[in-house]
Amino acid sequence: MEKIVIEGKNRLEGKVKVGGAKNAVLPLMAACILNSGINTFTNVPDLADVRTMIKLLNILGAEVSLENGNMYIDSSGVNNYEAPYDLVKTMRASVLVLGPLTARFGKSRVSLPGGCAIGERPIDQHIKGLEILGSEIRLEEGYVEAEVKKLHGGVIPFDVSTVTGTENIMLSAVLAEGETTLFNAACEPEVVELAGVLNKMGADISGAGTDIITIKGVSELKPVVDHEVMPDRIEAGTFMIAAALCEGDIEIQKCRFEHTGALIGKLLRSGVQIERLDEGIRVRGSERIESVDFTTLPYPGFPTDMQAQMMSLMCLSEGLSIITETIFPQRFIHSGELRRMGAEIKLVGNSAVVRGVKKINGAPIMASDLRASASLVLAGLAAIGRTEISRVYHLDRGYEKLDKKLESLGARIWREKD
Ligand code: EPZ
Repeated sequence: MEKIVIEGKNRLEGKVKVGGAKNAVLPLMAACILNSGINTFTNVPDLADVRTMIKLLNILGAEVSLENGNMYIDSSGVNNYEAPYDLVKTMRASVLVLGPLTARFGKSRVSLPGGCAIGERPIDQHIKGLEILGSEIRLEEGYVEAEVKKLHGGVIPFDVSTVTGTENIMLSAVLAEGETTLFNAACEPEVVELAGVLNKMGADISGAGTDIITIKGVSELKPVVDHEVMPDRIEAGTFMIAAALCEGDIEIQKCRFEHTGALIGKLLRSGVQIERLDEGIRVRGSERIESVDFTTLPYPGFPTDMQAQMMSLMCLSEGLSIITETIFPQRFIHSGELRRMGAEIKLVGNSAVVRGVKKINGAPIMASDLRASASLVLAGLAAIGRTEISRVYHLDRGYEKLDKKLESLGARIWREKD
């Protein structure tokens, strides 16, 4: 096991490139199950979660390679429709193979994803959608089994805005007989990216990015060639907060302003200077950080995946910040670790009240989930003295070489054996 060590209070400046989006590439990899041929992608991040999805696709019979951001998926050999528990339990996004396997084989058996540190992660909406498209669903021994002769179109009203739920049903309906309409669909950019790639494969999807998506079923899909994965808006947001916390001046390249609007709005309110560039965003931190309130919401609201990182910034703000988490109400495990560094945070229901302090101090702390670990790295950058973060495997699930990129901006950060 490794730990990350940080000597805080260095100013950060320079340029950093954002990698491909984890939450875009995972559904794109699952989409390759729907065709039978060689799919190629560029700008693919080398992350633990991508490696897990590669393992899963191998188990299903696909040939996959990832080299310097270039991914090759030959799905012609896919001949198994079961996603085993020991893989799904490490990565909930494995549930994204449920739809395409059912669409391709008329049958699938996927382990139910367990809960995780940020809360209970149900998939009832995924199941409801598949049933409306004609699947027989059985839940047994911790697995969900779907069976259908041929999927048919339908009208699917999601009871909650779900990103992978929308993606899973999209990945099923593209090969169904007839037309499917999703109501209350997720509008995240990663959903738009998936619809774009499915259309490149020959699907007929319209409305992606809005909460009503129409999918006209087609008989078959062909492989996608040379698709460049969209930039990771959460990695970009993490660097924006790094600049804000360290009075930095960072040019974040290859990120899209329009994908990070809600965060940018809140950072501007907190006194950060933000400049839109042709190919990115320049962020300059200021000495005084104003406290702001924010509530996490489905896109285009403030992203829950940026809540922990923004909490780290609010720990050093002037005043009181009320943070309300409406997506994953228990997603506050990082607050206990931040308190160990001297932050003043009180949890009240699904809100956290943060009273800004003048300084926080380095301490030995522990990561609990992907975005919480990013918030602890950010806090370490702004803390006086040394911070040691254990269980950094959580960080490596969703950030490619975050410590190296921060070091290139002037941070004193390195890894040691834990
Ligand atoms: C996706 O998870 C992301 N993961 C998450 O990012 C992100 O936090 C989340 O969307 C919200 O934006 C991927 O895209 C791989 P949801 P997902 O289904 O799809 C409830 C990260 O750090 N719900 O949109 O699993 C659910 O409990 C990860 O990169 C149901 O009730 O989240 C939650 O309250 C963490 N029934 C809300 O909907 C369902 O069938 C949103 O969850 C499905 C979801």
